[in-house]
Amino acid sequence: MLMKIKTLPFLLAGFSTVFAAICSNGKTVGNAACCQLFPLLADLQENLFDSPCNEPVREVLHLAFHDAMGFSIRGGVGGGSDGSIITFASIETTFPENTALVGVIGWVTPLIARHNFSDGDFLHFAAAVGIATCPGAPRPNFLLGRPQARAPAESGLVPNASDSVTAILARFADVNINPSEVVALLAAHSVAADYDTDPVIPGAPFDTTPGIFDTQIFTEVLLRGVLFPGNGSNVGEVLSPLRGEVRLQSDFEIARDSRTACLWKELVGNQARMQSQFKAAFSSLSVTGQNTAAMVDCSDVIPIPAPVTVPPFFPQGFTSADIEDFCPSVQLPPLSTLPGPAPIVDSA
Ligand SMILES: *[C@@H]1O[C@H](CO)[C@@H](O)[C@H](O)[C@H]1NC(C)=O
Ligand SMILES: *[C@@H]1O[C@H](CO)[C@@H](O)[C@H](O)[C@H]1NC(C)=O
Ligand SMILES: *[C@@H]1O[C@H](CO)[C@@H](O)[C@H](O)[C@H]1NC(C)=O
Repeated sequence: MLMKIKTLPFLLAGFSTVFAAICSNGKTVGNAACCQLFPLLADLQENLFDSPCNEPVREVLHLAFHDAMGFSIRGGVGGGSDGSIITFASIETTFPENTALVGVIGWVTPLIARHNFSDGDFLHFAAAVGIATCPGAPRPNFLLGRPQARAPAESGLVPNASDSVTAILARFADVNINPSEVVALLAAHSVAADYDTDPVIPGAPFDTTPGIFDTQIFTEVLLRGVLFPGNGSNVGEVLSPLRGEVRLQSDFEIARDSRTACLWKELVGNQARMQSQFKAAFSSLSVTGQNTAAMVDCSDVIPIPAPVTVPPFFPQGFTSADIEDFCPSVQLPPLSTLPGPAPIVDSA
């Protein structure tokens, strides 16, 4: 894919000289090895993420997350963000937490076959490209160079909606993700949809703006819950403030637990802070178990996401009086209430 390398030496802080390359599509990248990602980028944009923040984006993020969690700092349970969930799909999709991922593995298999990347590089590149299609997302980093996975991960490593906060924080700590990063990663629920928890309303979102990577999840999970949007309660589901919107027990508890409530509240209405914290945490997650010293920084291949244009708000009918406040020391930003009656949130 590299037609000609034009060597433009850039002096980086006076220490090292790196050579930028112009790829055959005319784009300049910091490292020539990154040029090979452009054909994959184009294929993903044309054939998987052909509309912004679509269902394949959500499913690929889901797949990448389950792959990343297959790791422990104590070793022995999996190679982390190595693509093993694809390489060893016949084993890993028999785990109860992964059975719903058979579909997305089917979607990505032909794309993987058309290119020459390890399953891990493919998956974590696709996750970064996917999230970048969501308006409001930060531009994720991407490091290239994951070796092909050598073994499947074990079952039981992915936190779920009915786990305790203690169990969730412990599992993330075991992949080197701290509580602040856990809270930031939950920004992904701002573009997520529920297919597991409430079977009556498949595709129900967790906030009122599932097509936008915004802070509404942090605001709306703090609103007092009053109803079950489907047909009564389900495992991992708690009372929601709005019809059509599912609230996960784990989100509810993390927003209210003394270890995480202030971290959560700091992200309410603060798009810039959410973006920078999510970007850092997502970068860490995308390289769990990997030797980053041997990888090449190809972040400059990831497209720059569209900005979020709507300011953060309270949904129709809600004000700060409806917030359940578990961190009085953090001030809630002033948010206006959308006009009109409380909505029924559409499925994504
Ligand atoms: C695929 O990539 C590997 C190393 O990344 C390389 O050795 C091999 O020649 C490539 N195959 C093709 C068909 O390009
Ligand atoms: C959630 O994960 C825990 C720990 O792996 C497991 O015991 C439990 O069965 C899971 N619950 C659901 C609903 O999947
Ligand atoms: C809703 O719950 C009731 C009582 O559990 C049950 O009889 C009914 O079949 C459920 N409806 C749907 C659509 O699941």
